Amino acid sequence: MTDAKPAAVSSMPTTGGILLDNVGYVYDDKTPWAHQALENISFTIDPGSRILIVGENGSGKSTLAWILAGLYKPTIGQAIRADKPLVEQTPNLGFLIQHTRLQLLSPTVGQEFSTFGITGSDAQTAMRSMGITNIHLSTRLENLSVGQQRRVGLAVLFARECPVIILDEPLAGLDRQGQTRIAEAVNALPHQTTVVTVTHDFEASAPLATDAIELTGGSVSKVWSL
Ligand SMILES: Nc1ncnc2c1ncn2[C@@H]1O[C@H](COP(=O)(O)OP(=O)(O)O)[C@@H](O)[C@H]1O
Ligand SMILES: [Mg+2]
Repeated sequence: MTDAKPAAVSSMPTTGGILLDNVGYVYDDKTPWAHQALENISFTIDPGSRILIVGENGSGKSTLAWILAGLYKPTIGQAIRADKPLVEQTPNLGFLIQHTRLQLLSPTVGQEFSTFGITGSDAQTAMRSMGITNIHLSTRLENLSVGQQRRVGLAVLFARECPVIILDEPLAGLDRQGQTRIAEAVNALPHQTTVVTVTHDFEASAPLATDAIELTGGSVSKVWSL
């Protein structure tokens, strides 16, 4: 880790921020197949920060994203926000998983919105804010392209107004126009919303954040301001 840590990412606890303290994660812990994916991860993310988590394939980015989303409990250390473990506050932690299609479980776009209590004109407004104009609420999700599914997933996520949003590879596989649309939508979120973007493509994702954390082999290797 670098000596000069930016304000948004530090090792000091911050009121209302996310604190990871000596977090480690072992898949299939205590079995012959145990695999250490993360080790000794400590940092704090201030409320309203825009953070990139970068690193090569297999460096542990998605594992860390699932921990930040409260869906994996660290096998060691603690991951907390406002004095409570992240695993106890998943409704506040909006998560776009890497494989968006696995996230959109409803038959239609409209039903996906209504799963979260978002209906009618609110759903339409959310779609428009993601630049989606040619898809109806009655459209079946399986009939959308990967890029369209990603944008619908983000439209639903942003409409939920979670204080913390974690995006795992939101720009992967999209053309330049699609990437720009998503960057604009992220940057239009309320300034108090914390956004953590996980990516293997630093260059494309840099407009989404002000600070970055690099993982190498499951540990933090660098922290810097963009
Ligand atoms: N469900 C799993 N079971 C066992 N090992 C896993 C599982 N998911 C990921 N891993 C391993 O954990 C390490 C980190 O994976 P991951 O967090 O997906 O990395 P990244 O998102 O940076 O590509 C890799 O070695 C990967 O093979
Ligand atoms: Mg990944």
